[in-house]
This record gives sequence, structure tokens and C-alpha cells, in this order.
Amino acid sequence: MRIAITGTPGTGKSTVGKILSERLGIPVYDLSKLIKEKGFFTEFDEKRDAYVVDTEKLREFFRDKESYIAEGLVAHYVPADLIVILRAKPEVVVERLRPRGYSEEKLKENAEAEKLAVIATEVFESSPDSRVAHIDTTNRTPQEVAEIVERALKGEEVFDEVDWLEDETGSY
Ligand SMILES: Nc1ncnc2c1ncn2[C@@H]1O[C@H](COP(=O)(O)OP(=O)(O)OP(=O)(O)O)[C@@H](O)[C@H]1O
Ligand SMILES: [Mg+2]
Repeated sequence: MRIAITGTPGTGKSTVGKILSERLGIPVYDLSKLIKEKGFFTEFDEKRDAYVVDTEKLREFFRDKESYIAEGLVAHYVPADLIVILRAKPEVVVERLRPRGYSEEKLKENAEAEKLAVIATEVFESSPDSRVAHIDTTNRTPQEVAEIVERALKGEEVFDEVDWLEDETGSY
């Protein structure tokens, strides 16, 4: 079973990835760490303060592996039987990231990206034929989210409707 977990920072990819890894007994790869450790990047983009991923090398690393959870912002570049997209209300993304000591600018940037569904859109555009589970984590515990992923793995359709742009109670 090959599972990719993607989503805006703060949606809970690493937390849910760890829980699933234990429950399913398959390894989890934190892609940001892997990319840095293995040098799966072409350059460092100073402006974006991020590595530019070498998607060929990344895919090559996973090519002969049968069972894994790959979690990270670029997880949808990794071959997968199921792509999990985690979502969370922008305010909640900020609440979850604030303890990391991020700047207001960086918090706002992530809230914006979630509000505009940047990653979800990227998945639908880059992998239109993939099986996708789209999960709103806003009012769920990481355990509950992991259970929903397991149901999706068994074949259940999981697609939570979210529209943060319509959410007038939102402050981002
Ligand atoms: N469903 C949830 N409910 C409440 N808190 C959560 C939930 N999921 C994650 N968190 C908390 O939010 C914070 C961020 O979670 P996590 O590190 O898993 O996010 P991430 O998506 O891996 O972020 P990044 O892309 O930066 O690696 C952590 O403190 C985690 O405990
Ligand atoms: Mg993480």
C-alpha cells in the first residue's frame, strides 16, 4: 500500500502519518527531511526559502518500494495508490503553527495558501486520475483523521466539502 499525505503546513501530515505508520505497520517518510538528507533537490530558492525538489530523484527513490507513507508538501509527486489531502480552516492552521515561532508573515502566507486551496488544486491538476481522500481536520483529532484514512484505504469514498472563501467568520 502506497499512501501520499499532502496539505498546507499545519494540517497535520506528520502527526497523522506517524499514527498511520504504527497502525498499519508500514514506514513513513517525512519528505522535507528526505529531500534534504538525500539531496533530492536541484537548488535552494533564496526567495522562497525552500529547496526546489528534484522530482525525478524523489520518484526514483520510491520506485521499487511497495508499502510506505510519504508525507509532505510535495507528496503528490510520489507514486501512490491513495493521495490524502488534509485541510484545516485557515485560523486553525495558524493556531497549530504559531507554537513553532513562525513570523506573522509566514503564518499569514500559510493561511492564505490554505484559504486558496493551493495544494488541493495542485493535486487535482497534476494527478487527475489518482484516488484521492480529501479530509477536513478542523474539528477532528489526529486519531480520527487516521481512522478516516483507513476507511478510504478500504475503498470508502471520502471527500469533505470545504470552502474557506465562503467562511465569513474567518479572519484570514
Ligand atoms: N487534527 C488535529 N487536531 C489538533 N491539532 C493537530 C491536528 N493535527 C495536527 N495537530 C497539531 O498541529 C501541529 C502541526 O501538525 P503537523 O506537524 O503534523 O503538521 P504538518 O502538516 O506535518 O506541517 P509541516 O508541513 O510544516 O510539516 C502539531 O502541533 C500537531 O500536534
Ligand atoms: Mg510535517
